[in-house]
Amino acid sequence: MKILATGRYLPEKVLPNSYFAKALETSDEWIFSRSGIKERRIASEAESSSYMGAQAALDALAKSGISAEEIGMIIVGTSTSDYIFPSTACQIQAVIGAKNASAFDIQAACTGFLYSLIMAHQFLKSGTCKNILVIGVDKLSAIIDWQDRSTAVLFGDGAGAVIVQANNNGEHGHGHLLAFDMGADGNQEKILYVPNCNTVRTNKIDISNGTAMVMSGQEVFKHAVTEMAKSAKKTLETAGLTLDDVKCVIPHQANMRIVKVLADRLKIPQEKVFTNLERYGNISAACIPVALSEAEKHYNLQPGDKVLMVAFGGGLTWASAVMEW
Ligand SMILES: CC(C)(COP(=O)(O)OP(=O)(O)OC[C@H]1O[C@@H](n2cnc3c(N)ncnc32)[C@H](O)[C@@H]1OP(=O)(O)O)[C@@H](O)C(=O)NCCC(=O)NCCS
Repeated sequence: MKILATGRYLPEKVLPNSYFAKALETSDEWIFSRSGIKERRIASEAESSSYMGAQAALDALAKSGISAEEIGMIIVGTSTSDYIFPSTACQIQAVIGAKNASAFDIQAACTGFLYSLIMAHQFLKSGTCKNILVIGVDKLSAIIDWQDRSTAVLFGDGAGAVIVQANNNGEHGHGHLLAFDMGADGNQEKILYVPNCNTVRTNKIDISNGTAMVMSGQEVFKHAVTEMAKSAKKTLETAGLTLDDVKCVIPHQANMRIVKVLADRLKIPQEKVFTNLERYGNISAACIPVALSEAEKHYNLQPGDKVLMVAFGGGLTWASAVMEW
């Protein structure tokens, strides 16, 4: 599996911490020191998950050298689909004109993109199709309680996409997904969950119905660090690699303190860890593909470079993967 192109879409509207300092009992200092976030992008009503996902897909397609008709499958990681059905993937298929693609969504909260990428790898390996479009998109602004300072300040909206292609060189060529790990713990469902949502019908949830995101921040923090560290170690071991072999690490962009503890536990030098959460906050399933599309340029990734990705989210779910660029 090799990455043909990456793409991203972030809404234009920037919401700085100063907005919350005016609206809630909080401050820029509290938000930045506890999370590392300075601002986030917030989608308009017209910028639904399918809209943002399609824009990210078109960005990737324009750089990929293939046409939309050559895409055989679309997998979208999202927990904020526009509708119960059709899936976001089907909506995106129609917008970009990928008429030969099958299309479906994967729901693994913030881990949705990595679950989807790993699934794409399996379909490419089995020869099911040649080109797969994998998207991570979320519009968390539509499912948070804007009066709840412990969650509202942490999240944002956005979409990232990658187009992956079966590797003609088989297992040993460039661009291979060398190893991965996936996990879940449904017993912890109540530390991070959203009872119900629909991002198109109203753009704003009715919090009196108890539909907004509920989170036990400190519990989530502990599980995130533990599971991401374990998963990343396992994936590196399976690949027979150490962190010295890795050009950069792309962690889930939940919180700078989580990223720092993770980097300390794994002993990753700071310069190898890519972060953009200062600008976007936690954009859930879009974190890794958006970061990947920025890291590509930041680290000038070349064939043979190894990239470690690790994610964590509600479910609980987690995953990691190391791939050769
Ligand atoms: C949410 C999080 C930033 C809170 O930081 P924390 O250091 O754990 O803070 P606590 O939860 O202990 O809260 C400390 C105090 O700050 C308050 N507080 C919470 N949010 C606040 C805010 N935005 N501004 C000011 N005070 C706030 C709390 O009410 C609490 O007050 P109290 O002591 O009077 O009860 C942190 O727990 C975290 O990042 N957790 C992981 C969340 C996450 O990444 N979720 C997504 C995973 S995919």
